[in-house]
Amino acid sequence: MKIRLGLARATEVPKLAAMARSLVEHGLPHTWDEQRLCRCLANSDYVALVARDGKRIAGFAVMEFLERRAHLALMAVDAAYQGHGVGRALLAWLEETARTAGTFLIHLEVRAGNVDARKFYERVGFIEAGRRRNYYAGGEDAVRMARDISVA
Ligand SMILES: CC(C)(COP(=O)(O)OP(=O)(O)OC[C@H]1O[C@@H](n2cnc3c(N)ncnc32)[C@H](O)[C@@H]1OP(=O)(O)O)[C@@H](O)C(=O)NCCC(=O)NCCS
Repeated sequence: MKIRLGLARATEVPKLAAMARSLVEHGLPHTWDEQRLCRCLANSDYVALVARDGKRIAGFAVMEFLERRAHLALMAVDAAYQGHGVGRALLAWLEETARTAGTFLIHLEVRAGNVDARKFYERVGFIEAGRRRNYYAGGEDAVRMARDISVA
């Protein structure tokens, strides 16, 4: 497995939307559809990063750069590639980009019931920063997590 990171291409959008739906939004309305991802690719406030294994997409992440912080909007690693450092590599690339842009705080929301993702984010340096009640359709809470990247 030789993973390479690069910016998402428009031709990859259908696959990314399918991954968002099955890996992140299962049981919820599909908000990360192709149109929304296309808008992100065209918007310079967003970076959509893809991890490729040859022609296969192993994982991807979408980060929005706000004025003083960055928001990790979406992140998914294909089940066949989970647990091999792909998620950590995607985040490391985005964090380096944020530092270069002078942005030192990253935050995100994760479904309260997504215990695996919460453990992953804790492992890579995020801490819980609050809860948003009924954030998701159907009433599931979001756990808000944040990471200060001013120190590498
Ligand atoms: C959560 C997710 C992005 C993690 O990506 P990944 O490539 O599997 O994670 P990595 O292999 O890079 O793991 C990085 C570290 O987190 C740890 N980790 C990952 N999943 C973990 C878990 N469920 N429990 C405890 N630790 C975990 C790893 O052991 C690793 O630690 P180490 O580098 O110190 O050994 C991926 O599993 C995924 O896409 N899940 C489904 C979609 C999802 O939940 N997305 C996030 C929604 S916001």
